[in-house]
Amino acid sequence: MTQAIEQDRVLIFDTTLRDGEQSPGATMTHEEKLEIAELLDDMGVDIIEAGFPIASEGDFRAVSEIARRSKQAVICGLARAQLPDIDRAWEAVQHAARPRIHTFIGTSPLHRAIPNLTMDEMADRIHDTVTHARNLCDNVQWSPMDATRTEWDYLCRVVEIAIKAGATTINIPDTVGYTAPVESADLIRRLIDTVPGADEVIFATHCHNDLGLATANSLAAVAGGARQIECTINGLGERAGNTALEEVVMALKVRADIMPWRTQVDSTKIMNISRRVASASGFAVQFNKAIVGKNAFAHESGIHQDGMLKNAETFEIMRPADVGLAASSLPLGKHSGRAALRAKLRDLGVELADNQLKDVFVRFKDLADRKKEVYDEDILALVHAGEDAA
Ligand code: KIV
Ligand code: ZN
Repeated sequence: MTQAIEQDRVLIFDTTLRDGEQSPGATMTHEEKLEIAELLDDMGVDIIEAGFPIASEGDFRAVSEIARRSKQAVICGLARAQLPDIDRAWEAVQHAARPRIHTFIGTSPLHRAIPNLTMDEMADRIHDTVTHARNLCDNVQWSPMDATRTEWDYLCRVVEIAIKAGATTINIPDTVGYTAPVESADLIRRLIDTVPGADEVIFATHCHNDLGLATANSLAAVAGGARQIECTINGLGERAGNTALEEVVMALKVRADIMPWRTQVDSTKIMNISRRVASASGFAVQFNKAIVGKNAFAHESGIHQDGMLKNAETFEIMRPADVGLAASSLPLGKHSGRAALRAKLRDLGVELADNQLKDVFVRFKDLADRKKEVYDEDILALVHAGEDAA
């Protein structure tokens, strides 16, 4: 089956509800999962990996319900390379208008040692399980877990088997975040050039962030020919997490000049879903997290604030509205300058003459040296203290 997508399109596969929920402590309730799936569907995510149906009764229920409620997105359920897993995944996703079964097995030497299968036995297992999945569903994704540490010849062999058995998407996971951008691009490119039938399927990239390279590796894989990025909101996921959806979506949008691949995600919905996932998972977003961190659109130093007040493009490569934020912020602290203080006072409805501003600025600097951030109430108190003294 030929996977027809336009060459400039990249599919976004969100696995917040599966790989993301595998973060220790990130368990979400049934209702939270339904709500997040709805937000993902509404924002234009192409494929939602809704869970691992055989893992628990709760996962099965969530995947089934998400499948029933889905609108546009393909709903995917994960299954190990075992027939009962695949049957259970199908039982759950079959309710979707567009269901997908995702089955995987660890193919690297370290991972092959766990089920204690020889290379030939594993190859047979892949053939049988992908064939079984394909008999149930015409949309089947297959993943060689730890692909980036799998021997090249064996990787080509198993990918070819999966394609011949009917897989429609081949996902190449960097399960332990081991690869680097140059290698990531090269691996996908060489697989597409080498494996018979590779041009009939979509190649996906699934990166973990153990070395902080997940986003770079995912984008490099796309340059190498991958047309599906697997990611999670806020980069939630095992250990250091997965590729962050907001990062790849915004990188492709902002640098379309050098990365001419488009997604159909409505980026203005990013901030809302980021906050929702943070509160549902209990994983707060770090302040300096790209795109969605509290400080991603905040400017404290005098030079930056002055630049922002004159022309936001001086220090911002995205508009806050593009990610669903009302405005950038200019928090006042010890690095702030007079221009930002004047702007803040105006926002607060206070107009001061130059000499009054000078006085308030001196008192403000003194306070800012003692306090991490100076709030609106502090500023008003400084103004009133000046009036009382006069
Ligand atoms: O990281 C990984 O290898 C996975 C697979 C199940 C695709 O999450
Ligand atoms: Zn993963």
